[in-house]
Amino acid sequence: MAHPSSYQPNTGIERWLDARLPIVRVVHDQFMVFPTPRNLNYWWTFGGILTFMLAVQIATGVVLAMHFVPTESGAFDSVEKIMRDVNWGWLLRYAHSVGASMFFLAVYIHTFRGLYYGSYKAPREVLWILGVLILMLMIATAFMGYSLPWGQMSFWAVTVITNLFSSLDAVIPGLGTRLVQWIWGGFAVGGPTLNRLYSLHYLFPFLIAGVVALHIWALHIPGNNNPTGIDVKVPTDTVPFHPYYTIKDGFALVAFILVFAALVFYAPNFLGHPDNYIPANPLQTPTHIVPEWYFLPFYAILRAIPNKLLGVAALNGSILILFFVPWLDTSKVRSTRYRPVYRWFFWAFVVTCVALGYLGAQQPEGWYLVLGRIFTAYYFAFFLVVMPVVGLIEKPRGLPGSITEPVLGPEAVRAAPATPRRLKPEQVG
Ligand code: HEM
Repeated sequence: MAHPSSYQPNTGIERWLDARLPIVRVVHDQFMVFPTPRNLNYWWTFGGILTFMLAVQIATGVVLAMHFVPTESGAFDSVEKIMRDVNWGWLLRYAHSVGASMFFLAVYIHTFRGLYYGSYKAPREVLWILGVLILMLMIATAFMGYSLPWGQMSFWAVTVITNLFSSLDAVIPGLGTRLVQWIWGGFAVGGPTLNRLYSLHYLFPFLIAGVVALHIWALHIPGNNNPTGIDVKVPTDTVPFHPYYTIKDGFALVAFILVFAALVFYAPNFLGHPDNYIPANPLQTPTHIVPEWYFLPFYAILRAIPNKLLGVAALNGSILILFFVPWLDTSKVRSTRYRPVYRWFFWAFVVTCVALGYLGAQQPEGWYLVLGRIFTAYYFAFFLVVMPVVGLIEKPRGLPGSITEPVLGPEAVRAAPATPRRLKPEQVG
């Protein structure tokens, strides 16, 4: 793609295949020798971790589906059967449910990394947009997956979230109600709802896999951003992806799997809600309906607004706004490292997201509600005010002359041949 191919087929069979399907060439050029900035830190290992987690979710999910019964009367019991009777069923189920949490942990870290280092800025806008699309698909998939055990939280979470569509009644009377009943496949959440959520929950991970392929394609056109945010200028700025980043990514992946395994084997229900071990009962609403931890900030935003339609609009807006980040941020400098004013606002945004997560788990009353509103206001102000305004008025710190300079020192840069590669001069940050 972005650099000339260096693949040399050696044997007859390699030449034969290369002339017909150059797949070995693609793997060699894009994943072995691919020029990668030499200064990537551990925050850059989460893309690989995410790819691994997607594979774990699909592999465990496909086997769980062999034993799961997607009916109102069969779902809860079939999950219990998986836990008790199916060989290694407990491991499959816990790997899948804890896996969903680990997947979200990794995707949030990955997204905040992108925000901090300005990886969404030109020429990586499409890469970023595809990322936001993946995030939305992940949210939909996890929501549908949570409905499947048909416990109390499953049932009532589906009831609360699908009912949000009824807010459209305020726009066109009757539209929202019709839409909700169409989604339900009846006049209440029930068997048809469960069956369609199951079908789509099986489909969506494969859509995610397709968009991930595009995401990585879009990454390999400009190449990686890096902690300095400046572009590759001299050959010493990059190292081949293998062995440097295969080893670094592999090490980080093993550390990540240790945390994952610790949760699966020692605290598999730590992140879940005990009420989901009570079979769904449409006649008994739990006193406190809460989503999984990874949806809590969005839930807090939804409940911060007293009007249903506006609350739903804020909930959707809080994710959709990410699509516009490449154009909302007016700074000429990518990396927050060199942005002395913006960095304070960035960390305040991180605190805001964590605080909204905490507030999403509390009852929406008293101080919790007041704080929920303040943090919701800052959430949107960060994108709509801070990003455009601070970028215009802030004076960034001086940038290094190249990626190599802060790593190897100015001597190494002077010694290197000054042949700019890959990016045009006007793209150099
Ligand atoms: C299933 C989910 C995802 C997978 C498997 C995935 C995979 C990857 C991989 C393998 C990389 C290269 C390694 C790295 O930079 O960490 C990458 C880079 C990137 N991803 Fe993702 N990603 C996912 C979700 C997202 C999301 C939700 C966003 C943002 C909303 C995003 C934005 C980016 C950006 C901006 C880069 C370029 C980073 C840079 O070079 O600085 N990704 N992704």
